[in-house]
Amino acid sequence: MTAPLDIVRIRRDFPILEREVHGKRLVYLDSASSSQKPEPVLDAMDDCYRRHYANIHRGVYTIAEEATAAYEEGRRKVARFVNARRTEEIVFVRNATEGINLVAYTWARRNLQAGDVVVLSHLEHHANVVPWHMLAAERGIELRWIPLTPGYELDLTALDTLLRGAKLLAISAMSNVLGTINDIPRLTRAAHAHGATVLVDACQFVPHVATDVQAWDADFVAFSSHKMCGPTGIGALWGRYELLDEMPPFMGGGEMIRDVRLDGFTPNDVPLKFEAGTMPIAEAVGFGAAVDYLNALGMDAVRAHEQQVTAYAIGRLQERFGDDLHIYGPTDVNVRGGAVSFLFEGVHAHDISQVLDEEGVCVRAGHHCAKPLMRQLGVPATSRASFYVYNDETDVDVLVDALVKAQKFFEK
Ligand SMILES: Cc1ncc(COP(=O)(O)O)c(C=O)c1O
Repeated sequence: MTAPLDIVRIRRDFPILEREVHGKRLVYLDSASSSQKPEPVLDAMDDCYRRHYANIHRGVYTIAEEATAAYEEGRRKVARFVNARRTEEIVFVRNATEGINLVAYTWARRNLQAGDVVVLSHLEHHANVVPWHMLAAERGIELRWIPLTPGYELDLTALDTLLRGAKLLAISAMSNVLGTINDIPRLTRAAHAHGATVLVDACQFVPHVATDVQAWDADFVAFSSHKMCGPTGIGALWGRYELLDEMPPFMGGGEMIRDVRLDGFTPNDVPLKFEAGTMPIAEAVGFGAAVDYLNALGMDAVRAHEQQVTAYAIGRLQERFGDDLHIYGPTDVNVRGGAVSFLFEGVHAHDISQVLDEEGVCVRAGHHCAKPLMRQLGVPATSRASFYVYNDETDVDVLVDALVKAQKFFEK
């Protein structure tokens, strides 16, 4: 067992949390959208730019070699963080969106023909919907959808029928709207039994729960650094080495080649084959520092803390507002993460979020890039509070007090 998180100490690591908004303490409850950054990540990137910066994989001079080593060390750290079999199985991309698109443009365009089936679910983020719509429009692939239960979990009763003849299951590990955690090992087993490849959108999962891509037995896993204390502009696609090796390159240009001639080119080895052009170097260093930061906290402690804060939040919202407030998502914290979506009877989510801002509370309002899910829920938007390592029960209390004010404000 790792020690429980010391939130007072952790907050001190995040400079932005010292500031005020409208004269109030900043209460940041939008980490499902993007997390804040701790000093060690800011310092690592600063140090890279100040002392070790040059382009990577090219220069034979000292600082270029240092920059290359730091970039590759970032890759090693990320690989270990998700228990990849080999470091080369981590491809650096801009974000989870690019990771999923990489699979859609390379693996899928090589392997899927008209009539082939891709299985998705009703709770997917647009990043794991639109690339497949684009491929459907281009190639005539068929999209099938795993529906939801009334309890906001995947309804797996017809899973075998949906997977029959499928070539790919592309599925989120944790919903950014409902918080629902999907049973990836079970889904992977079922998909593989039908001969389908499995892509996991782990953008919401990796920052919050210890992740073992080998235990999942998936084929591709995509996630973003900026949701896990790291910088924007970098993310990772983990892929099974044999699959990455067989896949054609994604973008063409410098770095991704072994040789270029007038009559063609030879791609580089995995993962450089997929890393065309100058990569986000300081960001890879920051990503590695973010992984170090989370490892030092201990991912089991991170998960336990978020379960505790989420349970407290759900309990307080239900107790204070009863039927006036609807929570969209499971209430059992064993099957959900820390994104809590809700709506007040008769009040638009954007109006709530504006009143909350006056109280220094940042929550997200909108469709959360999950419009197909919003349609299933029958609402245009929700408010969403999401918790991370720097939030605790005092933040929930500020949220509830601010919601009381908002409710009074909108009372007719
Ligand atoms: C479940 C899920 N998938 C994918 C994404 C896309 O992440 P990014 O914008 O970092 O590519 C998000 C971002 O909110 C997400 O929550």
